[in-house]
Amino acid sequence: MKALASSQIVVPKMDQLSCADLGVEEGTIFQVGNLQLHPLFTPGHTSTHHAYLIKSNTQTLLFSGDALLIEACGRTDFQSGDPSALYNSIHQKFFTLEDETLVYPGHDYEGRQITTIGQEKQRNPRLGNNKPEQEFVQIMNDLNLPYPKKIDFAVPGNTQCGQCPDNVPEEYRGPCDIQNVPAAERVDSKQGDQG
Ligand SMILES: [Fe+2]
Repeated sequence: MKALASSQIVVPKMDQLSCADLGVEEGTIFQVGNLQLHPLFTPGHTSTHHAYLIKSNTQTLLFSGDALLIEACGRTDFQSGDPSALYNSIHQKFFTLEDETLVYPGHDYEGRQITTIGQEKQRNPRLGNNKPEQEFVQIMNDLNLPYPKKIDFAVPGNTQCGQCPDNVPEEYRGPCDIQNVPAAERVDSKQGDQG
């Protein structure tokens, strides 16, 4: 995206990625065009996870990343995850928002797209109904989820701002090729399109 569309790479400041263009942190508004995003430091799924709030006069939108999902939450068993930290992030940073806050999670495995804080406070089977922290930690520690098959090269790839690490298996190397196009050729093809 950066090479082809001049996108900027924005990451949590605390990740200290030298390849990124901008670091965000809680307390400092991050502006995209005329949108103002309020970063929230919400560790637990990973130790540097951030979520983003957009506030308008009529509605608050929460982009909850992989912390709070629809009737679920992000896993906490790898990548510096910590169930206690996730519990506290969700309770302190999310469940203190208005019930009407619209929540857009990082992903959903059943094709759903949106929830609300009020709905998750009630219906989330891992966190809803004032479930105590100890019960949540137990649930998360008992999930026994399979080890993600791409994590060993996806995470290093992310921390290199999308540069493919050497350990990407052959069958997954397709997306790596695009960044191997020399910069000069990319510029030429762009000019060609405009012409
Ligand atoms: Fe994630």
